Amino acid sequence: MNWDAVAGRFTPPARLAVIGDPIAHSRSPQMHNPALKACGIDAQYVRVQVPVRNVAKAFRQFAASGFLGVNITIPHKFEALDAVDELDPLARALGAVNTLAIRDGRLFGYNSDGPGFLRSVKEAFGVEVKDLRVLILGAGGGAGRAVAVQCALKRCPRLVLANRTVSKATALADEVKQWSPETEVSVVAWTDEEVAEYMSQIDLIVNATSLGMKTDDAKLAPADALLPRHLVFDMVYRANGVTPLVEDAAAAGAKTVDGLTLLLHQGAISFEHWFDRPAPLQAMREGLRNALIV
Ligand SMILES: NC(=O)c1ccc[n+]([C@@H]2O[C@H](COP(=O)([O-])OP(=O)(O)OC[C@H]3O[C@@H](n4cnc5c(N)ncnc54)[C@H](OP(=O)(O)O)[C@@H]3O)[C@@H](O)[C@H]2O)c1
Repeated sequence: MNWDAVAGRFTPPARLAVIGDPIAHSRSPQMHNPALKACGIDAQYVRVQVPVRNVAKAFRQFAASGFLGVNITIPHKFEALDAVDELDPLARALGAVNTLAIRDGRLFGYNSDGPGFLRSVKEAFGVEVKDLRVLILGAGGGAGRAVAVQCALKRCPRLVLANRTVSKATALADEVKQWSPETEVSVVAWTDEEVAEYMSQIDLIVNATSLGMKTDDAKLAPADALLPRHLVFDMVYRANGVTPLVEDAAAAGAKTVDGLTLLLHQGAISFEHWFDRPAPLQAMREGLRNALIV
């Protein structure tokens, strides 16, 4: 790829990007470009498809082409850990980099998913994770790991981990215990009966699996175990409609939020790393809303 041509093809010039493989579905440009415009920053945010095992090379090329920063999405968040010059301690703890800031040619790696999750919980439910007993469905992938470690770092009183591949949840449980000895950590077999029993002792239920984008995806939690006092956080979102989990939870009278709020807040935190100023949340929110209508 001719990187100078890529960087020079846009007006305003491309100075920020999101990388992944695939990447065409990403709505990050529709969120960040209105933010750049609102702040009068003469730069454009673009999508770039990068194949696996090419992240370090891509980062160097972005730096050489005058880019300011990059967001990293599936499947590159782990590869990016080893492709930066300086790794933020939180990104190291969460085990993934989703934000690169390029300063004077040096590569700084951050994670905005974990803090974005905390902000989303606060915005949607008006409470702090430190006061919540949390159940994570899908505690085996990168998102589940980031949420589990972030909750432990906030010393939440209880953390219950469920995953299709139980061994991954067990390994994660051992890891999160080291971050918060006072958090009671359990691994639950993912059957309706077991999950329902734990749900009665839980405040916040998080879907960190990739299930829910389609209406006919398997049910994550038994609908009759959802309670009006539950807070339900689906990291997944659908462009046209609510996810099945959010639908069931809302029908039970629970409070809900989906992955769009997380997308917004992790994006805002990335923006703050790049420009050292508050992100224009309203412009970003509107950009995302418009992106979903199209
Ligand atoms: N809204 C946002 O800004 C945001 C940010 C981060 C992530 N996310 C979303 O969060 C989801 C997970 O992301 P990730 O990076 O953690 O992905 P990942 O690393 O691929 O992990 C996928 C997780 O889903 C589970 N899973 C997949 N298919 C399943 C099935 N049929 N039944 C039960 N469990 C299943 C996996 O279980 P096994 O371990 O058993 O394979 C694993 O725990 C994605 O949909 C992603 O888009 C959203």
